Amino acid sequence: MIIAVDGPAAAGKGTIARALAQHFGFHFLDTGSLYRMVGLAALRAGGEPIAAEAAIAAAKSLDPTAFADSDLRNEQVAAAASIVAVIPEVRAALLELQRAFARQKPGAVLDGRDIGTVVCPDAHAKLFITASAEVRAKRRQLELGAEDYEAVLADIRARDERDSKRATAPLVAAKDAVVLDTSGMDIAAAVKASIDVVERRRSP
Ligand code: CDP
Repeated sequence: MIIAVDGPAAAGKGTIARALAQHFGFHFLDTGSLYRMVGLAALRAGGEPIAAEAAIAAAKSLDPTAFADSDLRNEQVAAAASIVAVIPEVRAALLELQRAFARQKPGAVLDGRDIGTVVCPDAHAKLFITASAEVRAKRRQLELGAEDYEAVLADIRARDERDSKRATAPLVAAKDAVVLDTSGMDIAAAVKASIDVVERRRSP
C-alpha cells in the first residue's frame, strides 16, 4: 500500500506522514529532504545564485548518507530546495529513487509536494494537508526557534508561490486527494483524521 501526503510548507505533513507510517508499520520517506540535500549541495558547490548545472549534477549523484539532518533544517536550505525543485532535470533525477522506495512491502508513506500527482499517481490513499500561511509560519517559527515571525512568514509565502507556480510538478492537490485543513487542529486531531482517511481506503 502507498500513502501519499502532500501539502505546502509547515502544514504538518511530515509529522502526519511519520505517524501514519508508525501506525500502519510502513516505510517512510520525507521527499523534501532529498530536495533540501540537492539545494545544500548546490549551495556548497557554488554559492548563490544557485547554478542549475551544479544542482543537476548533485541530484544525479545524490548520496543521502552524506548529509546531517541538522544541516538541512533551516530556511536558507529550504529556499535553496524550492529553487532547485523548479529544475525539471533535478526532479527527473530524483523520480526513480522515490518510486523504488514507494514499492517496498508492506507499504510506504511518502510526503512532499507532488507524490499524489506525479511520483505515485496510483497511491491507494492521498492526503493533501494544508493550513493558513499565518498558522504555518507560527509553527515553523516555533520549530526553528526563530525570532522574527514576519521573516518566517515571508519565506513561507515566497516558497508557496514558487512551489505552486512552477511548470513541472507544481504544488496542487490531486483530484482524488482528501484535503485536510489543519489550521484549527492540534497534531493529535490531525493525525487521527488522517488515520481515519487511510482506514476508509483500506476497507471500502
Ligand atoms: O518541511 P517543509 O514543508 O517546509 O519543506 P520540505 O517538504 O522539506 O520541502 C522543501 C522544498 O522542496 C519545497 O519547498 C519544494 O520546493 C521542494 N519539494 C518538491 O518540490 N517536491 C517534493 N516532493 C518535496 C519537496
